[in-house]
Amino acid sequence: MTLVDSFGRSHDNLRISVTDRCNIRCFYCMPEAGVKFQPRDQILSFEEIERFVRIAVTLGVRKLRITGGEPLVRKDIAELVRKLAAIEGVEDLALTTNGVLLGAMAQELYDAGLRRLNVHLDTLDRERFKQITRRDDLEKVLESIEIARRIGFGPIKINAVAVKNLLEPDIVPLARYGRERDIEVRYIEFMPLDSQGLWDRDRVLVQDQMIAMLEGGIGPLEEIPDRDPRAPATEYKFTDGIGRVGFIASVSRPFCLNCNRIRLTSDGKLRYCLFAIEETDIRALLRGACGEAADEEIREAIRGSVQSKWIGHEINSTRFVPPPRPMYSIGG
Ligand code: 5AD
Ligand code: SF4
Repeated sequence: MTLVDSFGRSHDNLRISVTDRCNIRCFYCMPEAGVKFQPRDQILSFEEIERFVRIAVTLGVRKLRITGGEPLVRKDIAELVRKLAAIEGVEDLALTTNGVLLGAMAQELYDAGLRRLNVHLDTLDRERFKQITRRDDLEKVLESIEIARRIGFGPIKINAVAVKNLLEPDIVPLARYGRERDIEVRYIEFMPLDSQGLWDRDRVLVQDQMIAMLEGGIGPLEEIPDRDPRAPATEYKFTDGIGRVGFIASVSRPFCLNCNRIRLTSDGKLRYCLFAIEETDIRALLRGACGEAADEEIREAIRGSVQSKWIGHEINSTRFVPPPRPMYSIGG
């Protein structure tokens, strides 16, 4: 039943983007103004997403992550959480948010069955937050994190996008912030997914540089052994026993060989890679017909997408072609 591709990788992890809209404008993802969003009738309904997930679960999908854009701007998102959490076979449900609306919605999400959260936060400095996101919402994000902790979410992780000549002053303060709260900070190397073509190899702050900064500013780090080889982050703990950090080193150490992820975009396209050029139109199938025969057709489409999965992105090769959609419309 499992979704094994032609390189032997099996896929049990589905990332579901529920909207391409966002209430902030991180420069490495969106332009400041004039973003063209999907018209609403192109976006999958909760019923359509639920049906897709039920089918995917029969093929071995066990882990779900809800992403965006910003998933909390999608109306009644807690209702989708409730639907997905209730599906038999779903073992893990997580959500990635920029945290701006999280404080107000955290209880509702918790009650719907959500426990795992990734909050996107690049800096604790108000001015740099404004510079990066073009919004003045740092206080709201920090407050949201405290509210989520109090309610009992866990684990909560922080995602920071590591951009060179920008994020250097934040690397150590973010790790300290995480250490004080038992929150793992994950530094994600800046990837060529921004909508404005700003990415350049020289603008990536890489894992080794960040490790050196953290060890200099806080203390020695030790790689955590026996971690899940399928997880994209390499994780380290501080040797004083307080806290850990993770690195998603997509550029300096691509982890495509361990990839177990497929992605459903908010407009119902299935992608076998963040960087995929081709996609499979699931929405047309979902809207085409119901019943077991139609479900089987969708199963076939999922298998087909996984079958055609490539070995990996080629960011480090001159052949690399950025995907035709920016991050906010794929779902990170
Ligand atoms: N490179 C790396 N990570 C990015 N994200 C958004 N844009 C980029 C980029 N260009 C991350 C954000 C968000 C996650 C979904 O994707 O940290 O939390
Ligand atoms: Fe919004 Fe996330 Fe893109 Fe930032 S990275 S603009 S929070 S979708």
